Amino acid sequence: MSLIRPAFAIVPSLHAGVLVRCGAFAATRAGRSYASLAASPRRADQHKGKPALDATHTAHKAPPHAITTTDAVSTLPGKTTGTVDGDWVLFHPVYTEEELKSVEVLHHKATKFSDKLAYGLVKFCRLGFDIISGYKHKPMPEHYKSMSVQDLRKGGYILTPDGWLNRILFLESIAGVPGMVAATVRHLHSLRLLRRDSGWIHTLLEEAENERMHLMTFMQLRKHGIFFRGLLLGAQGVFYNMFFLCYLVSPSACHRFVGYLEEEAVITYSRCIKDMEDGLVPEWTKRPAPPISIDYWRLAPDATMLDVIYAVRADESTHRFVNHSFGNLQNKIDVNPFALREPDMTVKGTKAGFDREEAAEFVQESREKLYGQRK
Ligand SMILES: [Fe+2]
Ligand SMILES: [Fe+2]
Repeated sequence: MSLIRPAFAIVPSLHAGVLVRCGAFAATRAGRSYASLAASPRRADQHKGKPALDATHTAHKAPPHAITTTDAVSTLPGKTTGTVDGDWVLFHPVYTEEELKSVEVLHHKATKFSDKLAYGLVKFCRLGFDIISGYKHKPMPEHYKSMSVQDLRKGGYILTPDGWLNRILFLESIAGVPGMVAATVRHLHSLRLLRRDSGWIHTLLEEAENERMHLMTFMQLRKHGIFFRGLLLGAQGVFYNMFFLCYLVSPSACHRFVGYLEEEAVITYSRCIKDMEDGLVPEWTKRPAPPISIDYWRLAPDATMLDVIYAVRADESTHRFVNHSFGNLQNKIDVNPFALREPDMTVKGTKAGFDREEAAEFVQESREKLYGQRK
């Protein structure tokens, strides 16, 4: 898997298997890289022949449309259509085929009271969400392969594309909230207490942006009515504030809650993938992937919606892994083990999260890879 920033200055591999999150350099290995925004003269390179976007030029020479766009445009050189290089700026993932297929449905066993409370809350939210989005997740009848798609839909066994979109869009609009809230709280904490953050903020912001890009991808598939937008407004208003207050009280329980939420997301997307591969969402079988997703995940030009769903599911398993790991840490004194690098999907897709000992070992490994010695 690669995690890529939209402006590239790929530097030679630091070490096989090393993923580095440092602004000044990037690490690559087979199919996986980090690239630096800081090291790239992106604006100058990508807009050859166009005036630089300094204050003088934008004020006097750039046409109004150059700074006025509501659409994300390509980050790929040669495909840029405007002066905005993309709707994202943080690291973003590029997966190998093996990684996409390695994701498993997993569950972190709730042992502490706060874990059980978080899991109960997620189950409660899921029930409400299933009712709102008309998702039943009924087990398929044994003879389902001999039934028509229409009959299966009538029986409530499978969703229509619109049903999937209702569910996914609502889910993603909510999923983008926790990372931003957690990053905000830690940011304010750092400012207020004159204390460094130990590397958590950046990973949390990456998660928030990654979730928002899921939303930006799926919203390309349909126009949204006033009712749906109203629902998003209400849900966001309630969830943002509740999560903010809860995060002030117990960050660990909040990360556990998000870990369980992401478990559900992996289940949902796994079900979607299975339905699509069984030909039960025929409208999406050959539907081309939205251009924004091809750009963001660096998919093949002829990628389809199935490729998109696989990539999104892999992202969700990263969120599951990271948040369950965060839930196992002592958030006031532990560093973010993923500040410098992350394990690849064969770990993140098959393990619910690192416990504290594993996280410590991973940090040690990162330091060894970076500095060649144990510290
Ligand atoms: Fe998502
Ligand atoms: Fe997620």
